[in-house]
Amino acid sequence: MKLADVLLRKHNTPPIWLMRQAGRYLPEYRAIRQNYDDFLSFCYAPQDASTVTLHPIQRFDLDAAIIFSDILVIPDALGQRVFFEKDHGPKLTNFSKINLDQAHTNNWIKKLAPVYDAIHITRSKLDSNKSLIGFAGTPWTLACYMLEEGKSTNFNTILNYQHNDRYAFMHFIDVLTHCVTQHIRQQIEAGCDVIQLFDSWAIKAPYEYFTEKQKNKTGFMDTQEAYILNPIQKIINTLHKEYPNVLIIYYSRCPEQLYMRMIETHKPMGPFGLSVWHEVSLTHIKSALKNNTTTILQGNLSPHVLEQGGDPLYHEAKNIVESMQNHPFIFNLGHGILKTTPPEHVANLVSYIRSLSHTSSDA
Ligand code: CP3
Repeated sequence: MKLADVLLRKHNTPPIWLMRQAGRYLPEYRAIRQNYDDFLSFCYAPQDASTVTLHPIQRFDLDAAIIFSDILVIPDALGQRVFFEKDHGPKLTNFSKINLDQAHTNNWIKKLAPVYDAIHITRSKLDSNKSLIGFAGTPWTLACYMLEEGKSTNFNTILNYQHNDRYAFMHFIDVLTHCVTQHIRQQIEAGCDVIQLFDSWAIKAPYEYFTEKQKNKTGFMDTQEAYILNPIQKIINTLHKEYPNVLIIYYSRCPEQLYMRMIETHKPMGPFGLSVWHEVSLTHIKSALKNNTTTILQGNLSPHVLEQGGDPLYHEAKNIVESMQNHPFIFNLGHGILKTTPPEHVANLVSYIRSLSHTSSDA
């Protein structure tokens, strides 16, 4: 079933897909990966990117495919080149050398044509009952990688920059908001019916109140509103005006309080979902939604529980599904699948989720 169908409440089975479902835990992925020295060249090879996008669908019959790409293609296309060193995570070239003014010319987006080609190819091969998910990093999370020039431990560069030069930083967030919107628009045009925004580093966003002067000048109360809530809502609203049927899911690794603020302030103009990481209680988020059943929830099995498998996996999965009854729900992990996960555990999880819902509908 298509993911947005959960809003129609016709199915007893929650649809299931998993973040990072294509990747190193699958031998068929590793076989193709070894043909590329450089990870992004693989992302920019439409045929192979499409093939690995479809691997987890063929193996596990998941309800959605997520296009094989990376959130870091945006900085790469803007001229801040991205490299992956084995076991060191991403490394980005010098931030100060990139020219942000070119973002509005949209020339940079041409570099991402192979991503859109991969989406075209995948859509033509994918069963029409399955969703094809496109994605992007959020402006804040992209800013973290770009300013830190890779994965950071202390986030000093971005935290100092936003504090010392609020207006320049907000301009940067604005530029990224434009880039993310453009990249998603192209993915929808190429055939994606669902979009997920990844805010993996929302947890590092500062929560600082603006001074009266800053407040009056920017219209925002605090940094969380200025760097996260407003840009995300701007992206989603712009896209929903153009594509009212596209489901847009916001995934965030953040404190419960930020999800609550998102729920209070975002009035969706189209299908909207919140994907909750496993450190936050899905049932708390469901309670905060009260009777608002237009916001879909997604999540939030711990990737460690999936890796471990066996009884704890079934126990956790059952708890999640039961607690989400009477609410439009998509089953997923709370963060990406670990590369040490045995593929059989994924197969077991999918059949367990599908058997569960049948039992509960018979009862
Ligand atoms: O979900 C999917 O199957 C689609 C593909 C996908 C990838 N990255 C492929 C990938 C998606 C949705 C992403 C998103 C992504 N990329 C995020 C957001 C989600 C999250 O994990 O928080 C982030 C922060 C990135 C940046 C990034 N790319 C990191 C931190 C890494 C890991 C580096 C490492 O060495 O472990 C990557 C590389 C990456 N992206 C891999 C895959 C399959 C592994 C690279 C490889 O095969 O060598």
